[in-house]
Amino acid sequence: MKVGVIADIHSNQTAFRACVDYMVNAGCEEFLLLGDFISDTAGARQTMELLYELMEQFPCHVLRGNREEYMIEQRKIREKEEEEKFWLANSASGNLLYTYRQLTERDLDFFESLPITFRYEKEGYPAFTCCHGSPVNTRELLQLDSDRTKEVLEEIDTDYLLAAHTHFPGISRYQGKTYMNTGSCGIAIGDPGYAHAIILESGQNEWKPEFLRIPYDSNQVILDIFTSGLYDMAPWFLNNNLHILLTGTDLTPELVNLAAKLQEENDMGAKRWPHIEEKYFAQAADSLKIPDYTFLRYIRPAVKEDTGKILELYHSMIGGAAGWNEYYPGIDTIESDLSRNALFVMENEDGELLASISIDADEAVDSLKCWNQTLLPGAELARLCIRKEYQNKKLARMMMAYAMNVLRKQGKRSVHILVHEGHEVAMRAYMHLGYEKVGECSLYDMRFVCMERAL
Ligand SMILES: [Fe+2]
Repeated sequence: MKVGVIADIHSNQTAFRACVDYMVNAGCEEFLLLGDFISDTAGARQTMELLYELMEQFPCHVLRGNREEYMIEQRKIREKEEEEKFWLANSASGNLLYTYRQLTERDLDFFESLPITFRYEKEGYPAFTCCHGSPVNTRELLQLDSDRTKEVLEEIDTDYLLAAHTHFPGISRYQGKTYMNTGSCGIAIGDPGYAHAIILESGQNEWKPEFLRIPYDSNQVILDIFTSGLYDMAPWFLNNNLHILLTGTDLTPELVNLAAKLQEENDMGAKRWPHIEEKYFAQAADSLKIPDYTFLRYIRPAVKEDTGKILELYHSMIGGAAGWNEYYPGIDTIESDLSRNALFVMENEDGELLASISIDADEAVDSLKCWNQTLLPGAELARLCIRKEYQNKKLARMMMAYAMNVLRKQGKRSVHILVHEGHEVAMRAYMHLGYEKVGECSLYDMRFVCMERAL
């Protein structure tokens, strides 16, 4: 028998849907859903609908996480009219307010009806203790192998403990007992573009976990954050969430704590959370190197009508370090990229084309011997181009992140890039994004450095 375990969806309906589809296909007959269904990305409503649908179709065992508790608490605050504790449209609480507004009374009643822990038992197999944080507290972080985790394993009356909340998947053992953490379905740490979850398969008197890493359409999740209005309700908090979705690096506690500290230092503690001014979030994000991702909303697949503007952008780079000239890249390159849906552009509100990037299809590059053969299939990203006045605004990083998400969705496992020999700025930028130099080559009468990274 197979059981699907999903936790920390965080309103990411796209990742949730990808996990459910995978698990149903894999033959899962029951589901364990371990809390933090909502907040942090845009799809709270859709996530709840999908959850209810799943509960109608399969036996589901559901508990609540800290996010659901925040929502229950806010309803009580509003009932008691404790206005100073109402969530506001700012980076301290706008993300929660957006989520709260997407929920119905039925959702909140449902959250209130959920336990924070339960025992999952199937005849003939060992029982599980399930929870979001710990069996006594939804906000407790049970890291693998920590002393607290060992203590909890000693306290429970089952041989298995299943939890989430840390967003770090894994397994550890202590005195004959096993602890498993599902990781996060919607906002995985350290693994952008993938949803983490577990399938438990019953063996002879034991449960065997399969830790899943499922690709989903992360660019859609990012776009939804902008088009839903969520981004504008909590810009710096969302820049932080976009940073996790794009890079896997989670700086949430650092950002929130630093912004609160700056507010306290400057206003002598006069104002309390969530009354934190946006400028302190901006300062905190700046010192933590969390970029302003506003421009991400302008990236989209290119269409035929963009051809003239793209050509003009290419021509503005002639004579630069990439070694481009009036013939390459030209209109035929653009047409070929468009015919493969492999060209992406960033265009601002004024219709100005700021950047472009392509997924190349070049056998001469694919067949180079330097690429890591254990990371196939790979794909080549090429012709990354940022309008001169917009350089040093992290647009290159955003274009790369977007294109890498497209490749993940296509099932690619690595990215290849050729950098024109001597283009030191590009080399350094790619190395900063995790690319490694794996070889050199001569193609089209030019020398290139070959760079690669796993997806
Ligand atoms: Fe959580």
